[in-house]
Amino acid sequence: MRAFPEGFVWGAATAAHQVEGGNTASDCWALEHAVPSVFAEPSGDAIDQYHRYGDDLALLAALGLDSYRFSIEWARVEPEEGVISQAALDHYKRLIEASWTRGLQPCATFHHFTTPRWMAKQGGWTSPKIADVFARYCGVVAEHVGDDLASACTINEINIPALVRLSRMLPDFSTAHRDAALAALGAQPEAFFMFAGTQGYAERAIDAHRKARDAIDAAAPELAVGMTISIQEEVAEDDDNARAALKARRAAIYDPFYEAAQDDDFVGVQTYTRLMTFRDGRTGRPKGAEKTAMGYEYRPQALAAACRDAGEATGVPVLITESGYSGADPRRCDFIRGALEGVHAAIADGIDIRGYYYWSAFDNFEWMSGYGPKFGMIAVDRATQKRLVKPSAALLGAIAKANALDVEEGETVALSETGAPVGTG
Ligand code: BGC
Repeated sequence: MRAFPEGFVWGAATAAHQVEGGNTASDCWALEHAVPSVFAEPSGDAIDQYHRYGDDLALLAALGLDSYRFSIEWARVEPEEGVISQAALDHYKRLIEASWTRGLQPCATFHHFTTPRWMAKQGGWTSPKIADVFARYCGVVAEHVGDDLASACTINEINIPALVRLSRMLPDFSTAHRDAALAALGAQPEAFFMFAGTQGYAERAIDAHRKARDAIDAAAPELAVGMTISIQEEVAEDDDNARAALKARRAAIYDPFYEAAQDDDFVGVQTYTRLMTFRDGRTGRPKGAEKTAMGYEYRPQALAAACRDAGEATGVPVLITESGYSGADPRRCDFIRGALEGVHAAIADGIDIRGYYYWSAFDNFEWMSGYGPKFGMIAVDRATQKRLVKPSAALLGAIAKANALDVEEGETVALSETGAPVGTG
């Protein structure tokens, strides 16, 4: 059977900018439309979840999941500095109510990579002002919907900007790119969260997290709050220089965030692969490894390694807020089973893991890569916005319903012409 503990949460995740569509007041939208742009294509209507959330939630519930992780879009809630959109707050309130009605506990992320343009113009995540304005927005949202949420994540992958810079994963910004960003956004690309890992980033971000958590706590004292951290299985090539480089890497991209998470209700773990540090300090796939469509090593075991690392380093419960595979089914099914086998074993060894969210519920806008890579367990035909359930969604639903790993494939869900689920079969 390989059962999971009672109350273990089974869900799937998305982020506002990647699924809602039309997020025009955000910095990302502006950068997508800069000419030239480092984004392969603009997000446009995305998968129009802003309007289609009812059917999408019903589908996830019909599959058998019991939670949905989504994000609340700061650029919609506060489209101009200090100007709060009641309509946007009400939208998220309806989405949260619709989740509960369908039997899905809502887990909300308050910042998932995108920031309002007005803040980006002031330097975004490189600005010393970010902590205070972000916390103010979090307080407003928590006042409105905090008591209705099952859990909340302040900042998604808080360490990603530090990781991107350290791993030399920043896009190559030419003068033309910089001029275009300035024209489209009124700021350098570093204002955008993913590129903001400049001097002092960890302190700024941790300050923002702490102030945000306190603001959420003040409005909704019962709500479980944490940050999410991008944590890969990290190994070094068999070489002293490589081991030293990995030690320095850990100190820069994990340790400060693990330390800060010790004061939280949980730590969100987000794992995609294993990374090897080589003797020249670079990181990448071990030689000969199987590749996913994103170019990562296919390594389902990485998830358990990351959970063990985070659980031991922070001492707080682990929530797997993202784990996913880009590419085609049925390999995604193998990936899910493989990842969960490791998670089950880690729980048996005493690591306190409370839930698992597959990334992503739907194929969606994969940031700079546009709509190319597909992480979803539900496909979307963007011309018609029709959803199509992949075998991996049926599998995860069956695992969720059984709260155990050893299940058959699971039943798919049929959809009506308008997109509403009409039953399993
Ligand atoms: C992010 C997601 C992203 C996923 C796949 C994570 O870093 O939180 O927004 O789509 O990885 O690349």
